[in-house]
Amino acid sequence: MDYKLLVDERGKKYLLKKSVEKFCTDLGVVETKEIGKRLESHLGHKFYLVEPTLYDVLKRMKRTVTALLPKDIGFIIARGGIREGETIVEAGTGAGVLTMYLANAVGRGGKVISYDIKPEAIKVARKNLLRVGLIKKNQKILGLDEDFEDDIEVEDGLFNVILKFGDVREKIDEKNVDVIVLDMPDPWNVIENAKEVLNKKRGRIITYLPYIDQVKKTVSKLKEEGFWDIETYELMERMIEVSDKGVRPSTRMIGHTGYITFARAPLEE
Ligand SMILES: C[S@@+](CC[C@H](N)C(=O)[O-])C[C@H]1O[C@@H](n2cnc3c(N)ncnc32)[C@H](O)[C@@H]1O
Repeated sequence: MDYKLLVDERGKKYLLKKSVEKFCTDLGVVETKEIGKRLESHLGHKFYLVEPTLYDVLKRMKRTVTALLPKDIGFIIARGGIREGETIVEAGTGAGVLTMYLANAVGRGGKVISYDIKPEAIKVARKNLLRVGLIKKNQKILGLDEDFEDDIEVEDGLFNVILKFGDVREKIDEKNVDVIVLDMPDPWNVIENAKEVLNKKRGRIITYLPYIDQVKKTVSKLKEEGFWDIETYELMERMIEVSDKGVRPSTRMIGHTGYITFARAPLEE
């Protein structure tokens, strides 16, 4: 990743580019050369400097759309059985948040081909993915007639994401796909294409939708096309506050975000 994470003694976090050697905060100036150290500002305040996790990065990165939250991403990966080496087709890319976790889950031996119909969205996602080492320096967005000249290069990246400007309702170019993940408004219009390209032995489809009416339409279409093992879930997230007074759930929680539907690809007779 092209980042390092500076945390002050109050727990406030700053995501810095790797090249930053000195950083100014309200608690003083800190030398930020050595990652993996406890540091002190010129005013005597304590800081930590570490490598950020993907979670640290995505909380602070630029978004043009509503991105998926960790509670849903985690379940998509776990219940979806996404593993090392798999080929995933995703739509839409959006901010690229889900893309990042999918790419890390499939690892160096796998790949994520991510489609979006909005050039602005996919270009923002491209920048985000470049910084965390999932696409290569100057890598093109397939289907867009545009060259990119990047000034950063991540050395230890996975580089396993391919970005495509395209509409998955019209065409999915890939064959023998292990998993199709759809975070877009009308996945029922993609199901026939998905059926064509999913691997018959292990192919799965996963959809993420905010409205129950969309889920109903999607599940009907999945059944009509012969998909099976169909299940829909909703997850709630509640933080626990631990203080000297006691331990209790936070009064605020993340309630509804979206419904996640899982299904297996149809089998031939
Ligand atoms: C809610 S965003 C996805 C957010 C993404 N999962 C994330 O975590 O950052 C939905 C995206 O789907 C794209 N989209 C909608 N319909 C599409 C289609 N038919 N094919 C490809 N992308 C599509 C939109 O342009 C939008 O960027």
